[in-house]
Amino acid sequence: MDIKVHSLPAEKMKEKIKDESQLGFGRIFTDRMLMVEWKAGQGWCDARIEPYAPFVLDPACTVFHYAQEIFEGLKAYKWADGRVALFRPEMNARRFNQSGDRICMPALPEETFIDGIKKLVELEKGWIPTAPGTSLYIRPTMIAVEPVLGVHPSNHYYFYAILSPVGAYYAAGFKPVSILVEDHYVRAVPGGTGEAKTGGNYASSLKAGMEAKKKGYDQVLWLDGRERRYIEEVGAMNIFFAYGKKIVTAPLNGSILSGVTRDSVIRLAPTLGYEVEECQIDVNDLMADIRAGKVTEAFGSGTAAVITPVGKLCYKDEVLSLTGGQVGEITQKFYDTLTGIQTGRLPDEFGWVQFVG
Ligand code: COI
Repeated sequence: MDIKVHSLPAEKMKEKIKDESQLGFGRIFTDRMLMVEWKAGQGWCDARIEPYAPFVLDPACTVFHYAQEIFEGLKAYKWADGRVALFRPEMNARRFNQSGDRICMPALPEETFIDGIKKLVELEKGWIPTAPGTSLYIRPTMIAVEPVLGVHPSNHYYFYAILSPVGAYYAAGFKPVSILVEDHYVRAVPGGTGEAKTGGNYASSLKAGMEAKKKGYDQVLWLDGRERRYIEEVGAMNIFFAYGKKIVTAPLNGSILSGVTRDSVIRLAPTLGYEVEECQIDVNDLMADIRAGKVTEAFGSGTAAVITPVGKLCYKDEVLSLTGGQVGEITQKFYDTLTGIQTGRLPDEFGWVQFVG
């Protein structure tokens, strides 16, 4: 698809942040965005890169009423040799369409997703931060913009991608987070939308997240929606528990997100000397194993979260600590290996990197 590049008037160019330690996560946006529209009877059309700007949308649009929305998250990295790398963007393109299929949105050709993002990142590469732990976060999104109140799939969509120079997702940086196991609210149920990256899943997680924050926890760990017994995922990441050389994580059962970083951890593990088992994890067994010292470490994985150490877990008022508040050795190894591949410090033996330009 031909992508037109609109000019960027000098007055629309923003000042870049100078101190990269102050980036935070997702508060600053670059000068341009990618836009492609889909119209019934016409399909995908009018692909363009234009100055970043607010949308003017009819208040009746489907997205505002029935949450027909999906999104993705991936990152661009500037390597020491000046090249710009994306990490496994084809995985995001595929998952984007899987999410869209679940809520009746049109499939976007994977090459439009990837080529559009590459072209946008190439134009905006001056925004990619280079301090350790920073990157350019890419947020592809699709929203339903037909202004009609009937509950049915929209006949008009915007696909767009915006870019945000970011530091660590958690304010404290690469430090252990504390997690509350949520035993009242649920995130997803079998047959629901848990596997889709759709905004509604995150809206429905906010209340539990706020209640956990009030109790002093960074995030909640969701249990399955049927029995509230099996580990699923954490607010913004998948989760792994290490039993020495064996690492366990919840299986892709249809209600958890199929994380790109999760998959990368599973594929990297044997090369680092670990065995990964995707299995149902009963929270009661898990707590007993932490108590008994069998679980040596826990960490989350996600594009935004990268590899995040888990230092504390609370379930039904019992608080158990892991690795004494330090970053565990296994967690550190996965963090170093993954970020090493992403930033070109380590060889890309899996062919995960795609260059821009
Ligand atoms: C990501 O890791 O890219 C995500 O989409 C999680 C998000 C809710 C920050």
